[in-house]
Amino acid sequence: MKIGVLTGGGDCPGLNAVIRAVVRVGESVHSNSHVGLRHGWRGLMTKETIPLDLRATAGILPRGGTILSTSRTNPFKDETGGALCARNAKELGLDAVIAIGGEDTLGVAARLYEEHGLPCVGVPKTIDNDLDGTDYTFGFFTAVDIATEALDRLHTTAESHDRVIAVEVMGRHAGWIATYSGIAGGADFILIPEVPQTIEAVCTAVTARHKQGRKFSIIVVSEGFQFQDDEEDTDLDEFGHRRLARAGIAERIARLIEERTGYEARSVVLGHVQRGGTPNAFDRILGTRFGSLAAKLVADCKFGRMVALRGDEVIDIPIADGVAKLKTIPAERYSVARPFFGG
Ligand code: F6P
Repeated sequence: MKIGVLTGGGDCPGLNAVIRAVVRVGESVHSNSHVGLRHGWRGLMTKETIPLDLRATAGILPRGGTILSTSRTNPFKDETGGALCARNAKELGLDAVIAIGGEDTLGVAARLYEEHGLPCVGVPKTIDNDLDGTDYTFGFFTAVDIATEALDRLHTTAESHDRVIAVEVMGRHAGWIATYSGIAGGADFILIPEVPQTIEAVCTAVTARHKQGRKFSIIVVSEGFQFQDDEEDTDLDEFGHRRLARAGIAERIARLIEERTGYEARSVVLGHVQRGGTPNAFDRILGTRFGSLAAKLVADCKFGRMVALRGDEVIDIPIADGVAKLKTIPAERYSVARPFFGG
């Protein structure tokens, strides 16, 4: 079989581990060949391909990003886009497509399979870890490591200057990175999209610390966090998501804290630093396990399915089920962090 492989949506550490496993296992165990589709679904729409074999994937395991390049192109934005993808797949001689991506990329895979009969297999990816079908996505724990190290470093400078520092991390709809790095990095308050808060609550926690003689505080905030009475954001991307990387919630929080408490405050946006660079061991292993099962699903002609982590097992589920629901932080998980706020 000849398999097209693509990566769509935001990049994240571990994508190359998946690509490598798909190719290595696909070639050596299942005798399949592969071709890379460049820039996500755009590569299938424009037939932009690159060779993808043992040689092309040698040495990529520790590399961040994706050797296939990525984009947020949505073929279904145009009503002829789905049929174009199916036609191009035939013209390229593809027997199947392995799509590695988040909710949007996999949503397209599910539709191409159901509406246009394109044999697709999905591999879930997002550093936000907000896909309900899988317990964890690769890239997430690397992002948490990066954010945690940043919090450790910010602690010492905040303490030296008696400052409050608001640190903005990624997470559009769910506060996974904020909650996990906030717990690991000893945050004094964590603000996430799932738990609306007021600025008064944050100031109360910061002031409580000052009264105890702890004159610095670290506030971690998800980029998608909004205060209770904030207006709706209308700057949306091709899939209708808010473009949050430029929103500046940390800067706003630092300014409000300074105005209301008089304590000196600063803000830091970790941004794409969280998505760049080498994956940690967990994400390399998860990416390799995901890629290996995806290669097998294709060989077994189990299309319309995606790989997923449940507990410690890598299993397969229908793509449509895996992307149907957003996975927000369970209240129990966030409550682990709460006793440490303002303390
Ligand atoms: O892929 C998810 C994500 O990293 C979000 O956390 C973030 O809001 C978004 O992508 C940033 O997108 P872009 O790289 O297009 O600025």
